[in-house]
Amino acid sequence: MHILVTGGAGYIGSHTCILLIEAGYDVIVFDNFSNASKESIKRVEKIVGKEIILIEGDIRNRNDLHSVFNSYKIDAVIHFAGLKAVGESVAEPLKYYDNNIYGTIVLCEIMAEHNCRSIVFSSSATVYGDPHTTPIKEHFPLSTTNPYGRSKLFIEEMLRDLYISDNTWKIVLLRYFNPVGAHASGTIGEDPHGIPNNLMPFIAQTAVGKREYLNVLGNDYNTHDGTGVRDYIHVMDLADGHVKALNKINSFNEVMTINLGTGNGYSVLDMVKAFEKASGKKVPYQIAPRRAGDIAKCFADPTYAKEVLDWEATRSINEMCEDSWKWQSNNPNGYKEEK
Ligand code: NAD
Ligand code: UFG
Repeated sequence: MHILVTGGAGYIGSHTCILLIEAGYDVIVFDNFSNASKESIKRVEKIVGKEIILIEGDIRNRNDLHSVFNSYKIDAVIHFAGLKAVGESVAEPLKYYDNNIYGTIVLCEIMAEHNCRSIVFSSSATVYGDPHTTPIKEHFPLSTTNPYGRSKLFIEEMLRDLYISDNTWKIVLLRYFNPVGAHASGTIGEDPHGIPNNLMPFIAQTAVGKREYLNVLGNDYNTHDGTGVRDYIHVMDLADGHVKALNKINSFNEVMTINLGTGNGYSVLDMVKAFEKASGKKVPYQIAPRRAGDIAKCFADPTYAKEVLDWEATRSINEMCEDSWKWQSNNPNGYKEEK
């Protein structure tokens, strides 16, 4: 089976390619490299011991997509391609609506023209906004606070409408919580450009000495130690969720909306402690003001994923930190060194 992986050179996509290939799928990576390096796929090839078809193209470009669908009989698409920086989405909303929403429209149109109607989409826990309670179940009310989040929510709605118009589509919407960690080889991982927005890469860069200290963004939340609580999930567990979704996609008779999280909530300070233990390095920090738009607590109820995909996260917070550290300490400058 040929699987088109849009955004397959990025953080989650590259890890998912490994498990797809190990599960026997033929993978075609399609990426415009706006936030990725070709080196990630070279390293995936080393891990799996196989060449990967890599196509440089943009999901908004019909010719780029037609040429892929004309060259290969694609059975399903895993659609990771998208922009994901919340702050940038506030500053440049049209860029996000164009890339994420328009890009998905073009992708679905071309898929239908080539008779491919199976898609697994990367959604986000951001669509729950500030949840009234935790753990979060899939039927909780949806709301968003920024253009990035709105792009995810609109795409979910668009894909639901698409299914209503033609129920031969097979659609799985996976709502990720907070992906962290890296492949256990330490050769691929998250490679943020510039100053990281997310906690884990910031902690890792502080531990390796690239940054002086971590700003803990608020210690007056209603949580066990006052700092923000999230559901950190190992990227290889997340990747496994995609393989399970794909394995079952033909058996679904409705649009499936599924949380991918562990069900555990850890605070910023819990993460600092766990990272120090796993790396043997100190992570200096200082308390700073809250970040606009942040919420106190966000963690999943992952029971539906267990029920319908037979999937659950298995890797501990210690493994998440150890693997992040292996990647960060072996590749202090990300993929740049070997370019
Ligand atoms: P990433 O930036 O590492 O990967 C996205 C990939 O898509 C990159 O390789 C980028 O070059 C590519 N891309 C972007 N626009 C494209 C376009 N128009 N055409 C072709 N390729 C394009 O991000 P990631 O962390 O791997 O996230 C993957 C998906 O999961 C994204 O859709 C993201 O919004 C979603 N998601 C991520 C998180 C997270 O915290 N990492 C959480 C929830 C959801
Ligand atoms: N934090 C710090 N210092 C930092 C960065 C973050 O204390 O330098 C704190 C935040 O305040 C929050 C926690 O660490 O309490 C996690 O923050 P992240 O930015 O890593 O993650 P968020 O949960 O805020 O957001 C992430 C993605 C969003 C996505 C959301 C839900 O960045 O795109 O998860 O999936 F929408």
